[in-house]
Amino acid sequence: RWPRKIFSGIQPTGSLHLGNYLGAVRKWTQLQKSRENVTICIVDMHSITMPHNPPLLRENIFTMAATLLACGVDPAQSTLFVQSAVMEHSELNWILNSLTTMPRLAQLPQFKEKSRMVRDVPLGLFVYPVLQAADIMLYKATHVPVGIDQLQHIQLAQHLARNFNTRYGEMFPVCTPMIEENDGSRILSLREPSKKMSKSDQNPKATINLSDSPDVIKEKIKKAVTDFTSDISYSPKIRPGVSNLVNIHAQVTGMDIATVVEEAKQLDTAKYKERVAEAIIEHLRPIREKINLNLTNRNELIYMLEMGSEKARKAAQQTMCEIKQRLGL
Ligand code: ADP
Ligand code: NA
Repeated sequence: RWPRKIFSGIQPTGSLHLGNYLGAVRKWTQLQKSRENVTICIVDMHSITMPHNPPLLRENIFTMAATLLACGVDPAQSTLFVQSAVMEHSELNWILNSLTTMPRLAQLPQFKEKSRMVRDVPLGLFVYPVLQAADIMLYKATHVPVGIDQLQHIQLAQHLARNFNTRYGEMFPVCTPMIEENDGSRILSLREPSKKMSKSDQNPKATINLSDSPDVIKEKIKKAVTDFTSDISYSPKIRPGVSNLVNIHAQVTGMDIATVVEEAKQLDTAKYKERVAEAIIEHLRPIREKINLNLTNRNELIYMLEMGSEKARKAAQQTMCEIKQRLGL
């Protein structure tokens, strides 16, 4: 009954790491290639729910836009825009606040974790997932690609859609989370391969960023934690460190795991790491160059984002109009 629409939000956090790229952004570009209707929103209003630096946030919004373009997001095919440029996000957030209960938000794991990090919890941090639901619902998105850690937030969006539909009549699709959980879907920390690679990692050597220079990438892969077996094999449970490198290698070259392992048969870990580093460097080189190029064309970035906002705003205004009718506003 609902046309298939994919919505993804991403916080403007400066540079992306290899996990964000392989696990999220590259998947979006693949969906775009298979002619899916994809909306990508740089969610800057989510970024002010914790203490932040305004000039850095502004810079990070541009860096994220430049990065998404460099990774292959095509603004002619997909809708790419900045959340704060479309005020309907806040408007729907307010309306959804009235359908949300405080106990429901208080039990969400991400809120519990983040609220522990500040003394007085900002209200914005509390309603963060409601804004996320508004992002999705405003475009009547049917599918939301997310990591497993976002599942509870998607469930809140589903609950709010059902709740709205029941009270005011059918208006929103109940979105489906697109969660991929297999051995290769998570890129792991280079320092502690029991954890996923994450920007919140305190150790900068644990993550590879799209902005890293070839020398930095070489160094980080060289120091990647593996184990005391020197041959190369793929068994994520038993040898997570080496398997993580094999997985990354396969993903950046497009080879399958078996081929990667076969080709690495004669190599020890040290030699293999050099090969992996080379493959990552080659894959990321054009992306890094495009990011830098995009960042020098600031006016083009601004124009592109304004066009994206225009497209998004049209859809958002249409939805808001329908919602207000139903609510008697
Ligand atoms: P981080 O953990 O660095 O804070 P986010 O939680 O902001 O990353 O995730 C942004 C997107 O990137 C999500 O879709 C998430 O699933 C994906 N992602 C993050 N880290 C990884 C990883 N290590 N491997 C695969 N995908 C990841
Ligand atoms: Na995170």
